[in-house]
Amino acid sequence: MRILSGIQPSGALHLGNYFGMMKPALELQEQGEAFYFIANYHSMTSLFDAVERRQNTLDVALDFLACGLDPKKTVFFKQSDVPEVAELTWLLTTVTPMGLLERAHSYKDKIAKGISPNHGLFAYPVLMAADILIYDSNLVPVGRDQKQHVEMTRDIAIKFNETYGQTFVIPEPQIREEAAVVPGVDGQKMSKSYGNTIEIFGDEKAARKKIMGIVMDSRTPQEPKPDADKNLAIQLLKLVAPADVAKDFEDQLRAGGLGYGDLKKALFEHYWSYFAAARAARAELAANLDYVHQVLRGGAAKARALAQQVLKRAKVASGLE
Ligand code: ADP
Ligand code: TRP
Repeated sequence: MRILSGIQPSGALHLGNYFGMMKPALELQEQGEAFYFIANYHSMTSLFDAVERRQNTLDVALDFLACGLDPKKTVFFKQSDVPEVAELTWLLTTVTPMGLLERAHSYKDKIAKGISPNHGLFAYPVLMAADILIYDSNLVPVGRDQKQHVEMTRDIAIKFNETYGQTFVIPEPQIREEAAVVPGVDGQKMSKSYGNTIEIFGDEKAARKKIMGIVMDSRTPQEPKPDADKNLAIQLLKLVAPADVAKDFEDQLRAGGLGYGDLKKALFEHYWSYFAAARAARAELAANLDYVHQVLRGGAAKARALAQQVLKRAKVASGLE
């Protein structure tokens, strides 16, 4: 089984990225041949600063390796080191109906937010389809917001196969329901674009301030809270604390007697210790960047060899060769 996922180098990774995509992806390393990449071509649709892109790319590489990506098991690379994916994108665009792209939620959301779209933003799901199809991927672990993009990939692959004969493997998305949508400090979906994130490797003081700043209702600590499971701090605690500990806090909150300040303090402590080992690993990696670059180069060579084969298959099928 081949597993593939990508993440854009568009800023510091947060708990939503970690629990929605990275952690499931890292666990899948044990179950098949994983290909994970840093989607730097995709980031060009909305980030226009070269220095920032280079820095973010390195940061994502460090984050992934520190969190447990094992380069002996997993092919880890930068998207643009496999330029074949850009060529396959062209082949796929020609079987992609305009209407399919016009229905994309993420595109419509961005337009609704007033972002003036470039063609890349509109065509983004076709590049994503090429990312997935060029490695004959079976399984794509992503957060729920990316599900539609994987469904579009399936539609595009089916259309190509119908037009030119069996060429591509049809992939399946994998969404982990318990972390399908991690809420941010304001209760909306945690997202860089909403400014409501808690970073995985954030500065201690800043992270504490964000967590302690979570706005709660005005009920007194003594009041029982039958809706304890909806509490934002409880939801986040369930991700970073052992299940029995989180349950205990939830029970206390429901019964009454637990103050929100104490709950948020506990959330901070658990969050901080959850990533302690990864934080140490990241500091070590940051002092050894040659190793990090070498991992990415090695991954790119393996990924490229496979991509060339699949692209060739598509070119033969469509009469380009
Ligand atoms: P952002 O919304 O912060 O820009 P991205 O769109 O770059 O995040 O998402 C990268 C990956 O992390 C995707 O697989 C996405 O589904 C997942 N992800 C992002 N935010 C969340 C969230 N709040 N809950 C669950 N998964 C998320
Ligand atoms: N679009 C994804 C995101 O923003 C990143 C991505 C690009 C991706 N190509 C992919 C994810 C292929 C999975 C598979 O999060």
